[in-house]
Amino acid sequence: MRPIQPRSYSISSSPAACPGELHLTVSVVNYEKSGRSKRGTCSNYLSEIALDEEHVPIFIESNPNFRLPQNEETPIVMIGAGTGIAPYRAFIQHRELSEKRGKSWLFFGNRNFETEFLYQAEWHNFLKSGALSKMNVAFSRDGEKKEYVQHRLIENSAELFKWLEEGAHFYICGDMNNMAGDVQKALLKIIEKEGSLNREKAEEYITKLQREKRLQLDVY
Ligand SMILES: Cc1cc2nc3c(=O)[nH]c(=O)nc-3n(C[C@H](O)[C@H](O)[C@H](O)COP(=O)(O)OP(=O)(O)OC[C@H]3O[C@@H](n4cnc5c(N)ncnc54)[C@H](O)[C@@H]3O)c2cc1C
Ligand SMILES: NC(=O)c1ccc[n+]([C@@H]2O[C@H](COP(=O)([O-])OP(=O)(O)OC[C@H]3O[C@@H](n4cnc5c(N)ncnc54)[C@H](OP(=O)(O)O)[C@@H]3O)[C@@H](O)[C@H]2O)c1
Repeated sequence: MRPIQPRSYSISSSPAACPGELHLTVSVVNYEKSGRSKRGTCSNYLSEIALDEEHVPIFIESNPNFRLPQNEETPIVMIGAGTGIAPYRAFIQHRELSEKRGKSWLFFGNRNFETEFLYQAEWHNFLKSGALSKMNVAFSRDGEKKEYVQHRLIENSAELFKWLEEGAHFYICGDMNNMAGDVQKALLKIIEKEGSLNREKAEEYITKLQREKRLQLDVY
């Protein structure tokens, strides 16, 4: 048998705000297959066994392509679904400590408002303290119609484009299979409409954002 492979998790705390601690946001994976219930190895280990362990084997894998801008005054737009919220909690914890922080806007989506509005109280506190400037949420299973983060993006297209033009950095985190692609399509539409650009020019705009590291993805 090959050894069990490591699993990656985003760090959801800032080392400056929580020295000596490392927080994770883990979704426990359980599903049915061929009539049998299956349990995700690492997420179940973390949610049950690891809580009683004195030591858990981990290593840190640095990701230079998903970071806050060097200049703390640069505006940021954070888009995430489900556990994709994790790095943004760390970002805003970090920015809360800075006096010269730029504005920040969070778009968060999950299934249910009641049970899956992750860190709801913390986001409200961040809004109150000014560490977070704006927040829009979408819950996909609360109503008749699916509401996703990209619907909130489209609703705010004029202001989002203004932030882009002001030099904001855009982040996308969470599901790679559906969410990330759809959010990028929404972004393209926003740039086309608000910048009065044709498809080719809007794609060039996005390529430029990527080249300048102003569009960063952490998707899985
Ligand atoms: C860069 C990166 C960052 C990540 N960050 C986070 C994070 O912050 N939080 C987080 O919770 N996760 C995160 N993940 C995902 C995490 O690494 C694990 O993949 C996840 O926790 C599942 O691991 P597991 O060992 O519990 O499940 P495993 O035992 O590995 O089982 C998962 C596998 O089961 C299968 N499976 C799952 N659901 C179904 C289904 N409904 N039907 C059929 N088959 C299915 C799939 O093959 C899937 O790959 C991240 C992944 C990457 C690559
Ligand atoms: N089955 C469950 O109840 C359940 C619960 C927790 C975690 N998990 C599993 O745990 C892992 C990680 O999950 P996660 O917590 O990070 O959440 P996730 O599965 O990535 O889902 C987060 C949110 O993204 C929505 N979404 C789906 N397609 C989208 C799209 N095209 N654009 C935008 N948003 C979209 C989901 O809505 P919809 O799903 O309503 O379409 C949900 O509201 C996954 O493997 C997931 O399957 C499953």
